[in-house]
Amino acid sequence: MNNSQEKLISVRNLNFKYNKEIILSDINFDIIKGENVAILGRNGGGKSTLVKVILGFLKKNSGSVEFFINKNKIGYLPQIREFDASFPINIFDLVISGLASRKNLFRRFNKEEKENTEALLKEFGIDNLKNKLISEVSGGQLQRALIARALISSPDIIFLDEPESFLDQKFEYQLFEKIKRLSDSTLVIISHEMEKIYNYIDTIFVVENNIKIFRNKEEYYKKHTHRH
Ligand SMILES: Nc1ncnc2c1ncn2[C@@H]1O[C@H](COP(=O)(O)OP(=O)(O)OP(=O)(O)O)[C@@H](O)[C@H]1O
Ligand SMILES: [Mg+2]
Repeated sequence: MNNSQEKLISVRNLNFKYNKEIILSDINFDIIKGENVAILGRNGGGKSTLVKVILGFLKKNSGSVEFFINKNKIGYLPQIREFDASFPINIFDLVISGLASRKNLFRRFNKEEKENTEALLKEFGIDNLKNKLISEVSGGQLQRALIARALISSPDIIFLDEPESFLDQKFEYQLFEKIKRLSDSTLVIISHEMEKIYNYIDTIFVVENNIKIFRNKEEYYKKHTHRH
């Protein structure tokens, strides 16, 4: 820890319930620029909920979430299971919609933004699908488009909820190298595949109702290798 650390997001005393069930209890952490985070934990532990509460898609019961960055510079890959693939939108529009700001949802996109979208579609191997509806492509192709959507705004921080879902091994293997090459975003990755993200993360948050923070990933890994 040193003074040059730049905070991106600060979460304090955060609590969240679904109806009466406590899902997140007294969560505290900072996200620091350049410090990539893995969020681990058992199914139903509250990982996806935590990200949705931070982003304001779910309303917290108490506590604070403070942003030190422009909220339009946040990328988000939703867990694909929660994404409605029957929504009538094509692949190109899905990816470029990552540029829509919260204040000006239906503005026109300019030439440069369209060209950047084309380039990203190529990068993700889905340029030939750009006019297809998302209901007409495979799960892996949709996942690629959703990851491209999360990257299109050159965000300061990207939340990726189980990015490996549906991806073939070859693409999955290149994914984080690609993300690193295309952006200098800080990453927050929810995953069940610790080995696959280990080289790309610095800090581990285990979220199971409460949060346990391991700023030394080697230490966490030594303790938990019996799980793998
Ligand atoms: N819409 C909802 N209404 C009520 N309870 C919900 C809702 N969505 C999730 N939950 C509950 O909240 C808890 C946390 O769910 P969440 O999806 O955040 O877990 P997760 O850690 O992301 O799990 P997974 O690893 O399976 O993705 C679970 O017990 C779940 O049943
Ligand atoms: Mg989840």
